Amino acid sequence: MIEILESRLSQLSESALELIMFWDKRHFPTPWKENAWRDSLRNDSYWIFRASSHGNLLGVALFKKIEGDEVGHLLKILTDPPARKKRLGTELLNFAIESMRQKGASRIFLEVSETNHSAIAFYRHMKFVQIHVSKHFYGAGEDALIFEKSLLSEALTGKE
Ligand SMILES: CC(C)(COP(=O)(O)OP(=O)(O)OC[C@H]1O[C@@H](n2cnc3c(N)ncnc32)[C@H](O)[C@@H]1OP(=O)(O)O)[C@@H](O)C(=O)NCCC(=O)NCCS
Repeated sequence: MIEILESRLSQLSESALELIMFWDKRHFPTPWKENAWRDSLRNDSYWIFRASSHGNLLGVALFKKIEGDEVGHLLKILTDPPARKKRLGTELLNFAIESMRQKGASRIFLEVSETNHSAIAFYRHMKFVQIHVSKHFYGAGEDALIFEKSLLSEALTGKE
């Protein structure tokens, strides 16, 4: 049984933040430095979604959604490597997207490295559409693909 908890990043406990920073460093292709995490704590626009089973963290998604803005920005999503390809990422992202919709988002944006083939396949599975290529986004000639998902039509929500 998967439980998904949502909170503002600013309300995360120190121990929960430490665990997420550890995960980010270990499993995310472009981890944030600790001061980037700590700076984000001061901003009420960041929302963190944590999936767990029996108290064990299995997945994390981080969104930015400025109040009054119709855009939600998916900044990070990652699932525990042994839990991958079991639809956990799908469940977590659908939950988070629904929450963004309830907060007034009509569109979700994200960027992903052109070399992150598993994430690209995952976003396509989630019915995101590539709208742009940002050249050298990650430096050293590595481009980012910009994906968008409209939340205006139920048919595009990725629910199957
Ligand atoms: C991207 C990520 C979150 C996907 O999580 P997940 O729990 O494995 O996702 P799901 O099991 O819900 O996958 C759903 C679908 O996405 C696609 N997909 C997911 N991982 C894939 C992979 N490695 N290769 C090809 N397709 C993949 C498939 O269509 C899959 O459906 P299927 O299992 O029926 O084939 C996970 O791989 C991850 O944490 N990666 C490292 C962090 C990262 O790169 N995050 C994104 C950065 S922008």
